[in-house]
Amino acid sequence: MIGRLNHVAIAVPDLPAARRLYGDMMGAAVSAEQELPEHGVTVVFVELPNTKIELLHPLGEDSPIRGFLDKNPQGGVHHICYEVADIAAARDRLVGGGARVLGDGEPRGGAHGKPVLFLHPKDFCGTLIELEQA
Ligand code: CO
Repeated sequence: MIGRLNHVAIAVPDLPAARRLYGDMMGAAVSAEQELPEHGVTVVFVELPNTKIELLHPLGEDSPIRGFLDKNPQGGVHHICYEVADIAAARDRLVGGGARVLGDGEPRGGAHGKPVLFLHPKDFCGTLIELEQA
């Protein structure tokens, strides 16, 4: 059911510094900063030949990654995103298997304007999983 690895997301305390690290020091193509108020984050995408890295920084006081950065002040891997062909069908299959979907369980528009869902890390080997409809 799951398809390609769409991106690995890293929460960072200093987004311009992380953008320079990937763009200047590591020589990757990096996007401009993009604010996603409904997700409480500002993101930068690093384009790699086979996938992307999503650099995440909190946006707003109730950002869902603020607590993560409090526990990991230097930043860290926050989630990984797999592509699925049909996100509603994927959700129904996973919920049927006992997995928990975060929030109200309804897909929301993600960073690429496509529907996304997040799955509970306790149900997936301690890793927060994002599903994105490809
Ligand atoms: Co993501």
